[in-house]
Amino acid sequence: MAVTETTQTTKPRLNAIVDDIHEALVEIITKHKVTYDEYRAAVEWIMKASQQHLEIPLALDVFLASTLDDLEHEAGEGTESNVEGPVYIPGAPRLEKPYVLPMRENEPGEKLVFSGTVRTTDGSPLAGANLDIWQANGACEYSHFQPDVPEYNLRGQLTTDEDGSFEFETVVPAPYEVPNQGATGQLLKALGRHSFRPGHIHFKLSHDQAAPLTTQIYFEGDPWLDSDVVGAAKESLATKLTWDEDADGRRSATCSYDFVLSK
Ligand code: BEZ
Ligand code: FE
Repeated sequence: MAVTETTQTTKPRLNAIVDDIHEALVEIITKHKVTYDEYRAAVEWIMKASQQHLEIPLALDVFLASTLDDLEHEAGEGTESNVEGPVYIPGAPRLEKPYVLPMRENEPGEKLVFSGTVRTTDGSPLAGANLDIWQANGACEYSHFQPDVPEYNLRGQLTTDEDGSFEFETVVPAPYEVPNQGATGQLLKALGRHSFRPGHIHFKLSHDQAAPLTTQIYFEGDPWLDSDVVGAAKESLATKLTWDEDADGRRSATCSYDFVLSK
């Protein structure tokens, strides 16, 4: 690739990465003898995706984000990190005890009580750690991304007690299908891949004496745990749902997870 000497000296990392991307693409085109028609189809796909709202970030999150997240945290100790994903909204309401994520009276999904602790890698409990939580409901709906779901539905922030413990009520999130009506869905379909993520709850944990952590908690036995379309689900982040049934046959679940933050 023709690159001027001035650019190379001012942006050596950018040049090295772009050169490697170019080299990798040339190698792929050569190896598979990619035709001009296939090249045009790829250009068309990019043009279509760029005209669809949030489609390019979605495609990047589906195909690449978890690799970046794993690389950035490979030396980390404590609970494994996991991708933030494209549906985080800052400024979720700070909740009062007893903690219940904001939800509608008939929120789709069975009741879930999620408890746990937040500790450091040396085992000390972290009092006053902040948990910023967001999730889909039992009908795969995220507030701010689905019409008719109230603002900040199933999004909230809470803090841990003196002993580092926390407990909140919510609903069990359903396995989630990433938006598949646009260019990303078209590509997944062409590849013969499904578009499901296992059910999960997102967490951002922070405390002034520990490193912040963005992660997700999954549920054992979820049918999509081993084939998450975004490749993010990890065994160490899966917890067990324990089910109960009341006199009227209504099911509810409990689960727990102990988070460990590195210093
Ligand atoms: C999610 O966690 O909701 C998500 C992650 C990556 C792509 C799409 C959705
Ligand atoms: Fe999600």
